[in-house]
Amino acid sequence: MALRLGSTVCTEKTCTARKSSANNFSILRAGLFETRRTGPVQHINQELLVVEEGRAKILVGKDVFYNPVQCFNRDISILVAKTFAEVRRTEFEQKQQKKIFSSQHVATSVETDGRPLKAKRMESQSTEEKKFAGLACLDALSASGLRGLRYFLEVPYVREVAVNDFDEHAVESAKRNATLNRIPPERFEVHCGDASFFMYERAIAQKSFDIIDLDPYGTAAPFLDAALNAICDGGMLGVTCTDMGVLAGNHPGTCYSKYGCIPQKAKYCHEMAIRILLGSIAQHAGRQEKVIIPLVSISVDFYVRCFVRVFHSPVRAKALPCALGNQNEQELNNSNEIIQSVLNEDELKEGRNEVDFRTKKRIQGILGIQMRELQDIPLIYSYGDLCGFFRIKQYPIALFISYLLCQGYRVSQFHTDGLYVKTDAPPRIVFEFFIIQVMRLDEDV
Ligand SMILES: C[S@@+](CC[C@H](N)C(=O)[O-])C[C@H]1O[C@@H](n2cnc3c(N)ncnc32)[C@H](O)[C@@H]1O
Repeated sequence: MALRLGSTVCTEKTCTARKSSANNFSILRAGLFETRRTGPVQHINQELLVVEEGRAKILVGKDVFYNPVQCFNRDISILVAKTFAEVRRTEFEQKQQKKIFSSQHVATSVETDGRPLKAKRMESQSTEEKKFAGLACLDALSASGLRGLRYFLEVPYVREVAVNDFDEHAVESAKRNATLNRIPPERFEVHCGDASFFMYERAIAQKSFDIIDLDPYGTAAPFLDAALNAICDGGMLGVTCTDMGVLAGNHPGTCYSKYGCIPQKAKYCHEMAIRILLGSIAQHAGRQEKVIIPLVSISVDFYVRCFVRVFHSPVRAKALPCALGNQNEQELNNSNEIIQSVLNEDELKEGRNEVDFRTKKRIQGILGIQMRELQDIPLIYSYGDLCGFFRIKQYPIALFISYLLCQGYRVSQFHTDGLYVKTDAPPRIVFEFFIIQVMRLDEDV
């Protein structure tokens, strides 16, 4: 299809793509203001405040770390955990049904074999196993315990939560906050000690967790091995890394020593940071014959945050070299399904939220764009930089996107910046667009 330059040639497909991405970016911009606010605050005295976030309240003093900007990180973690909890329960029920079906099958075949006793034993076993035990969660680096409290209060089917910090003040504060929120102490363990040590201990005692959250200062690399040891088969690991300078290519040597990868210093550093972290988690998992399935991965503010599921699978762990940076189609669809379910959560629907989910617009914006991101395309084009390189006026990006779509290629934007484009169009086609623009400039002169 011919493209009229200076105006936009629209098909129904391009129109819808442009409208929805523009809409998501405006939601995202509106959402940025939400992140800067704190929740309702009540002053107890000059040094102590009560801050509300989600369903939890915490006492914030000078002695313990509390970062209101990280509310987005906690909100999205709660939403992903809620979706995961539902998935986990459904999987459990399906497994139970399969067991019942196969035990009934065995029962009938056993009876015809003339051995009814064994059949009866199997049937009673399957009825015993029926109850879903719920989820055990760990906030391994908890500070005030806010995140752990929110897991307890907001995520369904949570059986118990453990929070851990090596700072005694933090532990005192977490205990105080648990009492403030009337959490039964037998279901909320507050532990003081090194995070890795605690996780190894729990792994050895075979008291593993369904959800482990790692939210450290800087890199999470030192805690990955212990976390992967202490997580249940099929469990979910949430990892934050705030050392963006390292992941984004400013310190290649440090990045290699922490993540086993040398980064490029480039415009696509956010995408690269996510991939380096996922690659590192996958390699740690591989050492334990485990594999990861990424659920939601974002680069936002000053950090990257990834949620992955962990499965024990020696066979798939062997295929890691092929899997790195190259997810298969089913896994991508799986991740989109998860994002869609997160977007469907009540907290994100207008008028249906009982709790204060302050960052919901931003979550909708980021995940809305992520849903459409081409995840099989690892790199991005920076539209602004290309316009600068060709010394042309920066027309609305919709024109560039329409051009690529009209040529029959797939296009998406990237969640960190509306001027980044992912496409499966070959570089020749991308440059063709800019060369046409340059020629048009010459004609105008
Ligand atoms: C960024 S803060 C955690 C914030 C918290 N997750 C939240 O959402 O509010 C990091 C915490 O990890 C603790 N920490 C750092 N290294 C640790 C380690 N090796 N073991 C246990 N706690 C550690 C610090 O004392 C600090 O309270």
